[in-house]
Amino acid sequence: MNPTLVQRAQQVLCANDRGGYTIPTAGLYPFQWNWDASVCALGWMQFDEPRAWLEIQTLFSGLWTERDYGGGSAGLLAHITFHQPADSYFPGPDEWGTQALALRTSSISQPPLHATMVRWMLERAQDRAAAESAVRGLLPGLLAHHRWWYRTRDPEGSGLVRILHPWETGMDNSPAWDAPLARVPATTRAYRRRDLDHVDASMRPPQSFYDRVVYLMDANREAGFDPQHMLEAGRFQVNDIGIVCILQRASRDLAVLAARFGDEAAAAEMQGQVQRTQRAVAALWSDRWQQPVSRDALTGELLDQPTSAGLLSAYAGFGFDIAPAVRAGLDETAYGVASTRRSAPTYDAPRYWRGPVWQHINLLISQGLAEQGQAVLAERIRENSRRLFERSGFHEYYHPETGSGLGGRDFSWTAATYLHWLAGQAI
Ligand code: DGY
Repeated sequence: MNPTLVQRAQQVLCANDRGGYTIPTAGLYPFQWNWDASVCALGWMQFDEPRAWLEIQTLFSGLWTERDYGGGSAGLLAHITFHQPADSYFPGPDEWGTQALALRTSSISQPPLHATMVRWMLERAQDRAAAESAVRGLLPGLLAHHRWWYRTRDPEGSGLVRILHPWETGMDNSPAWDAPLARVPATTRAYRRRDLDHVDASMRPPQSFYDRVVYLMDANREAGFDPQHMLEAGRFQVNDIGIVCILQRASRDLAVLAARFGDEAAAAEMQGQVQRTQRAVAALWSDRWQQPVSRDALTGELLDQPTSAGLLSAYAGFGFDIAPAVRAGLDETAYGVASTRRSAPTYDAPRYWRGPVWQHINLLISQGLAEQGQAVLAERIRENSRRLFERSGFHEYYHPETGSGLGGRDFSWTAATYLHWLAGQAI
């Protein structure tokens, strides 16, 4: 543990605290983001347990209910919750067409890490009574959200949920989305990106990406946020291996939590979903890259790109042997798991999800490998991460060859990952 970095990481979270929720970073991301929130909560847990629970409670206050837009999307936990106005981000609260919500949100979701993070928080909590009461209160929302994924994104019960927007993956500009996104029309309406006010264009998605994600955002509004209409009209539908892995792990953890708090029926329901996904996931294996990959749900084609998303399969507990792929990737770069393998033709070292290293992804991959009995490999990733934190502090992401910080600065989930993973129990 490095006491100066611990203090600095705590300062990052405190500076980004907006009273009950943590923005990822000032300017670039001025609202509460979905999967960021649960990672932030892990970090808060190390020095302020009530604040940690509040982060997730605040996030779930934006869960869509039966009263919202006809109720079909009840259980949607949006990727952005707009608790307060800010004008430094596009697309902000007025862009999504969700004005009728009591608490304004976007209309898409993000990787459902929450049940896993809640379980980890419960295991580490010093104040047991407060933790148990918090988890009891969060359980109905967690269950509603998992049911939303299975009900609206896998209505046929195939075992593989689909995403309808690249932003849902959290790995927005991954090369895995290039082919399905190329079929999406570019929007013809005027808009102004704000991300380039904060970060150099070489680290961000290109304009052609924005023109299509804006089209997809507007299509949700035109479908009245009705999940059936969204599936019927959806021009971009992908079985994202990242979401499949994260949901699988979270449903396993949710089953444990539900059983522990006396809801055996919900535990069995989640286990049933887990088994269905376990049977279906073999279809996503890539012989070329020796790891699972995503699939275009409209054409059935594998999106055969070696991205870090598939390396979450150990964390999911799927049982694939991904150790050779992880080792090969680590041998290609100096610092942790690149979001896209350096040996892939689509690799672009500084650009969003096409090369850079994300520390929370390193954590999840390392955790999964440790659980799979790959302790040496897990420790190699952790050690790479420690060197990155010490070299470059708490950036949004990092150059996998030089270790220099990229994207947003003073980034909340990076600081939180440090507190949980590298400073951990030692505080
Ligand atoms: C962005 O705006 O880049 C975000 O990642 C979308 O969630």
